[in-house]
Amino acid sequence: MNQTEQDPISPNKGGIEIRRVRENDLDHIVALDERVTLLAKPDYWQDIYERFAARRMDKRFFLVACASDDDADTKALGYIVGEIRGWEFGSEPCGWVFAFAVEPGTRLQGIGEKLFGAMSAEFRLAGIKTMRTMVPRKNQLHMAFFRSEGMVAGPYIQLEMELDS
Ligand SMILES: CC(C)(COP(=O)(O)OP(=O)(O)OC[C@H]1O[C@@H](n2cnc3c(N)ncnc32)[C@H](O)[C@@H]1OP(=O)(O)O)[C@@H](O)C(=O)NCCC(=O)NCCS
Repeated sequence: MNQTEQDPISPNKGGIEIRRVRENDLDHIVALDERVTLLAKPDYWQDIYERFAARRMDKRFFLVACASDDDADTKALGYIVGEIRGWEFGSEPCGWVFAFAVEPGTRLQGIGEKLFGAMSAEFRLAGIKTMRTMVPRKNQLHMAFFRSEGMVAGPYIQLEMELDS
């Protein structure tokens, strides 16, 4: 896809730029994820970058938010990663969001909403009508955010069991 012609990722949304991730964002993203989850996962993020930022980019979206007046080396203030997946679990193709965070010091300023909006615009442009994610039931912050964006409980439930070692 020619991003300049078709990609809805805006170069400037109210002082925040939402754009596709670049390799030199990765260190910032690893550090941000570590601040949020208290676990550093550089190998995981390198793998996500290779799978979601370099291949099948019409279905895979790894987006970051940056201050729009910063230079190319600026640190990412947030990220969202999603993918269009189809026919698993008997579902028609839908857009999944599976990683999402905003820098703790810049929250509640609409950055999460801009990232979410850019992702939903990508899914919509690809002809997708349903967007999904999974959140821990008890995580009130995740619940509050996704509900505020219009997400509600979907038609599937997650099943799991512990495996004996
Ligand atoms: C969820 C998250 C991405 C929201 O980012 P954000 O930039 O602060 O969100 P926004 O400012 O765009 O908020 C949009 C709406 O979400 C809701 N919301 C966001 N934070 C909230 C909070 N702390 N309490 C209640 N509602 C909240 C509000 O309705 C808000 O709209 P409003 O400000 O008009 O009331 C951010 O809190 C975050 O990164 N949390 C940690 C995520 C995480 O654990 N990631 C790792 C595993 S995936």
